[in-house]
Amino acid sequence: MKNRFLVSATISSSVAMTATVVSTLCHSPASAQSTPSAPAAAPAADDDLFQSFGGRAGLTALTDDFVERLTVDKRTAPFFESVDKAHLKSQLTDQLCELSGGPCHLVGPSMKKVHASLDIGKRDFNALVEVLQDAMDAKGIPFSVQNRMLAKLAPLNREIISR
Ligand code: HEM
Repeated sequence: MKNRFLVSATISSSVAMTATVVSTLCHSPASAQSTPSAPAAAPAADDDLFQSFGGRAGLTALTDDFVERLTVDKRTAPFFESVDKAHLKSQLTDQLCELSGGPCHLVGPSMKKVHASLDIGKRDFNALVEVLQDAMDAKGIPFSVQNRMLAKLAPLNREIISR
C-alpha cells in the first residue's frame, strides 16, 4: 500500500504537468512487418529504461499480460469488450518501447483521437494504471523502474481523459 501511495503521488503530480503528446503507433526496426511509413528509428541515447524492462521481448510479455488483465478487471473490462486484443498489445508494446527509449518509431493516430469517443474519466485512467502496476509486479519489475515508466505515461492523461 505504501508503494501504491508513492505511485499515486507520482501520477498526481504528473497530472499537473503540461505535456505535448505525440502518441502514435510504432514498429520495431527488427520487425519484418514494419509499415513503409515507419522507418527504423535510431536507438535512443539513453535506453536504460527500455533495457530494464527486458527490451522488446520483456515489453511484449508485459503488454500481453497487461491487456489480458484489462479485459477481465471489472473496472476496465467494459472498455475492451470489442477491441482487437492482438492489435492493442502490439501497439502498446510499441508505445512503451518508444517511451522507454527503445529503438521504436511511433506512427499512427494520436492518443486523443484514439480515446476521444470512449468517455474515459480520471477513475478509469487510475484503474488502468493500477492494472499496469499489477502486471509489472507480476513480472518482478522493480518499483523504481515501474515508477520511471509511469512517469512517462502519466502526462498522457491529458489526451485520454475526456470527462
Ligand atoms: C497511459 C494510459 C494509456 C495509454 C498509454 C494507452 C494507449 C493505447 C494505445 C497505444 C492504443 C492503441 C491505439 C491504436 O489502435 O492505434 C489504445 C487503445 C485503446 N485504449 Fe488506451 N491507453 C491508455 C489509457 C486508456 C484508458 C484509461 C482506457 C479505458 C479505461 C483505454 C481504453 C482503450 C481502448 C478501449 C482502446 C481501443 C480503441 C479501439 O480499438 O478503437 N485506454 N490505448
